[in-house]
Amino acid sequence: MESNRLWHDPVVEIFSNLITPGVRCSASAYDLANRRWYRLKVDDAEVVPDDDWLSSTVAKHVRATTARAGSPVTFETKPDDRVDRPITKSLSYGGSEPTTDKLPTTTFDQLESLTYISRSADRCTWHGKDCVFKRIEFDVDIEPIATEIRIRETLMDAIGPVGNSIADVNAEMTRRFLVVPVLAVVIGINSKPWKPGTVAGILMPFAGQDLEILARDNTDAALPITELQLRDLVRGVQELGKCGVEHGDIKYWNTVLQQPAEEDDDGAAAAAAAKLVLIDLGSVAPEYDGDAKALGTLLLWCLEHAAPTLRENEAARARVHAAAAALAEEDFDAALKSLSPGDA
Ligand SMILES: Nc1ncnc2c1ncn2[C@@H]1O[C@H](COP(=O)(O)OP(=O)(O)OP(=O)(O)O)[C@@H](O)[C@H]1O
Ligand SMILES: [Mg+2]
Repeated sequence: MESNRLWHDPVVEIFSNLITPGVRCSASAYDLANRRWYRLKVDDAEVVPDDDWLSSTVAKHVRATTARAGSPVTFETKPDDRVDRPITKSLSYGGSEPTTDKLPTTTFDQLESLTYISRSADRCTWHGKDCVFKRIEFDVDIEPIATEIRIRETLMDAIGPVGNSIADVNAEMTRRFLVVPVLAVVIGINSKPWKPGTVAGILMPFAGQDLEILARDNTDAALPITELQLRDLVRGVQELGKCGVEHGDIKYWNTVLQQPAEEDDDGAAAAAAAKLVLIDLGSVAPEYDGDAKALGTLLLWCLEHAAPTLRENEAARARVHAAAAALAEEDFDAALKSLSPGDA
């Protein structure tokens, strides 16, 4: 396992599965939670393996430290390169040549305590900061990561010079576009599976829980979402569009609710100031209807999952519905006019 990673209960996916019925089966499995490949051979005519059986068998084994005698499954350890499925392509960034690359870089070994959030995303610590590392895990991840980087660069150009540091630019990115910035592009040096010196992924601040997780953990459907946050998000997405950027997948699972800053001792004021911000930028989802319509749908989702102060406030409901209707017509100005700037 990666030396800077924390163990997580396995989440195993089967990637290929070759079955000779009644004779044997061999499968290639990947534990997303611990980012490791496995090969599985089953020599037992009694077992008719499907993907669920295979993945739960691998997960069971990964959990246990030793294989049990009498099991129809045998495990042996082979060098990683006999088991891993390598990433065959690579992405370069921020080399020594003169370049237009704008984002800072860091190396994978600077990330600490990586722990699984989902396929391709780990929470981690970087220079003491609570962060998310979104990695190139398979070849298909290269394009989306390259797009995420490009969009941040476009937004940095639009922002122009502000403040004295990249932190000021990043704060402005969140304020103006309601987008999570990229703190650094992560380069793999001597860390598999990335080709040395190429991009391993991107590092972002941990911006809060996404709305899908919050709704799942909050069974009373009472998310602390305010009309002001919705209005601010509409303004941010309008700004993105003005800069020629399409998010491409505005959904509740790509929206996070910021946590109040730790150093803030006025918890209530901080919660009120927390924003809804967007992650996962630039990969246009299949049959996507455009950011405006997707945002309208998101507003209605937020309304139904919000705490009663918003959800059961008839006047506020009417305003959110009017905003969603305006967004269905791609009319951002009308949507903004519908939503109250005061926090009713
Ligand atoms: N900056 C961040 N702050 C907090 N959580 C994040 C952040 N970035 C990613 N996450 C979490 O990781 C999950 C996956 O990240 P992301 O949405 O960027 O990629 P993805 O889900 O792989 O893409 P797709 O939506 O196509 O599946 C998110 O749903 C969210 O829970
Ligand atoms: Mg996502």
